[in-house]
Amino acid sequence: MPTPPLAGGTAGPTALRPLLDTVLTALHDGAARRGGPLPAGGPDTVTPRTRSATHPLIPDHGTGPHQALRNLVTALAEGAADPAHPHCAAHLHTPPLALAAAADLAASALNPSMDSWDQAPAASTLEADLTTALATEIYPHTPSPDAVITTGGTEANQLALLLARERHGPIQTICATNTHHSIARATWLLGLPEPVAIPAPTGVMDLAALDEALTELHRPHLVVATAGTTDTGEIDPLDAIADLCATHGAELHIDAAYGGPLLFSPTHRTRLHGLDRAHSVTLDLHKLGWQPASAGILAVPEHHHLTPLHHHAPYLNADDDTEAGLPDLLGRSLRTTRRPDALKIAVTLQALGRTGLADLIDRTIATAHHLADLITQHPTLALYDRPTISTVLFRPTHADDHTVATIRRTLLHRGHAVLGRAHAENRLWLKATLLNPHTTPEDLHALIDLVTRTTTSLLTHPTEGDTPR
Ligand SMILES: Cc1ncc(COP(=O)(O)O)c(C=O)c1O
Repeated sequence: MPTPPLAGGTAGPTALRPLLDTVLTALHDGAARRGGPLPAGGPDTVTPRTRSATHPLIPDHGTGPHQALRNLVTALAEGAADPAHPHCAAHLHTPPLALAAAADLAASALNPSMDSWDQAPAASTLEADLTTALATEIYPHTPSPDAVITTGGTEANQLALLLARERHGPIQTICATNTHHSIARATWLLGLPEPVAIPAPTGVMDLAALDEALTELHRPHLVVATAGTTDTGEIDPLDAIADLCATHGAELHIDAAYGGPLLFSPTHRTRLHGLDRAHSVTLDLHKLGWQPASAGILAVPEHHHLTPLHHHAPYLNADDDTEAGLPDLLGRSLRTTRRPDALKIAVTLQALGRTGLADLIDRTIATAHHLADLITQHPTLALYDRPTISTVLFRPTHADDHTVATIRRTLLHRGHAVLGRAHAENRLWLKATLLNPHTTPEDLHALIDLVTRTTTSLLTHPTEGDTPR
């Protein structure tokens, strides 16, 4: 076999074009074979089919690029849970914009590595300017806000706790029961005391309980509030929490992984009032920002808050190189080799502009409200609450928790819908996390029909659940 061509240089695009053609055909064919939001049949069907289409993974003699791309991409697309389908709405699993995926291809072809300037001369400028611009959206009133790019909310939350530990030593984290699990995991990873969990009886952090905890505990505190909870999409009372932190001398981190992009919507940004009072903010643009994973951000109000991340590795940031003016990028992450995720984000922001992004956000939230309306009007469905962002919790009125869980799995097994599950008010709910700006009222009607028909069939024939059809 001839030496395979490379993706970069002036010859790269010529080599890529026919390969991309094969990839795009495979994506199309796989999606057409699937014909729905996910493959029917559950793991018993999908696993063997995927294996037989993709093996051997390491043959003695290769198949050549077109066949391998055709095989593997078709198999993955056929077996995908595709968030571009309006009935794939379980998680904060976004349907990426085509333009962001196209930009990500350029990132792969150029392959800048963000750990030293000599691997990413222009990409390092783009990343620095983009992170400053995003940090300025979050902290418009501080002189030198900054942000680092992360693999997502989990890494951003870990970094936030790490920076707080570097400022204060073994800081006590205080969060609500609605907080994302990555906070507790970060305390474990960083050797910090386990978080104190404040109740969230109405879905958001209870202020009186927070006040009490801050009064009783006598060491440096980091309060973690959430703007867009994973289960219900609710937003903690950020400004009131910031007031309590100020009164008690505690620091505040806000996990706005989900809700942060509301900043771009003139209609919805007021919900984030108080965000700029946090010592750090997590933002994830692979949720309500329509980016392919990964596209996380940790923002801080002052550039120097990131100083603890600085690190020295002579092959990447030798002192004399830095003194001679080569930017030192190593301290912008705990990772070494790092993709230029800034490119797809910058392309998206430039292509859509503020108004385009606001329109996507507003439209997605309006879709969630429309689903909530349909549920409220439906005689056999109950709505948990009006959506704060784009998460809608609902359940059939006559189903117990076991049936609700079985409805979800049955829809998965039949390849009909991908809905999530969440506990609230001591009951299990179906969760629709709407992130697809193309979802129509007809799609929502069809989703409700799927749920109610599945419910009726399960209540009539309880043994039918969990089986393919
Ligand atoms: C509120 C919140 N924070 C953090 C995360 C973790 O983000 P990631 O999956 O990008 O690491 C999630 C994930 O859903 C989340 O909902």
